[in-house]
Amino acid sequence: MALEPHAFMSTMSKRIGFTEEEKALLKSQSEWGLKVAPEMADHFYSYLGRDPEMNGILNTGEERVHRLRETFTEWFHEMFTGMDEWGNAYSDRRWKIGLVHVRIGIGPQHVVPAMATVVTEVGKRLKIDGKDENLKEALGKICMIDLAFIEQAYVEVSQQAVLQETGWTEGLFRRLIATGARSM
Ligand code: HEM
Repeated sequence: MALEPHAFMSTMSKRIGFTEEEKALLKSQSEWGLKVAPEMADHFYSYLGRDPEMNGILNTGEERVHRLRETFTEWFHEMFTGMDEWGNAYSDRRWKIGLVHVRIGIGPQHVVPAMATVVTEVGKRLKIDGKDENLKEALGKICMIDLAFIEQAYVEVSQQAVLQETGWTEGLFRRLIATGARSM
């Protein structure tokens, strides 16, 4: 069955231990989040630009880079506001971001280091601005939840594509993967 974003958000929040206190802390710092978002976008896109493969995906025209900077800034700020208390709107948005990356062919090997860059750079900024360690922890958790959405989208889309194309059951598909993994 295809992933249900709201249930996935709730499972991830529990698994990662994203608490109500952390949500409140993030919301209280949302202005700071908005202020530093453009600087984080600079770090993010200069990091992607240094990798020839990712640079090739990004620089298909000024319009795309411009759009990306805007959507990145929004994404970053949404981690602080939670949109709707990190509810349905938030999870639908994260799922859609995952799907966009799958469509463009951006896999885990690109996304994981990119998210690590965000965590590192925001950590440096938090330190410079004398922010609480708890804020760093809360941000780290929500970044990991967002990352899980993008990664899971890759798996879900691949699986659904195979099931649709072949008519296999999910059970058969999983058995084939397990067999394949044993033989590698
Ligand atoms: C931390 C990981 C990442 C985050 C949070 C992120 C965030 C976003 C967001 C919010 C969008 C807009 C989605 C929409 O249109 O609804 C987007 C689109 C996109 N992202 Fe990422 N991204 C990440 C990693 C990457 C990586 C590693 C690349 C590789 C080059 C990349 C390239 C793109 C491209 C090409 C688009 C589509 C731009 C367009 O509209 O033409 N992203 N990303």
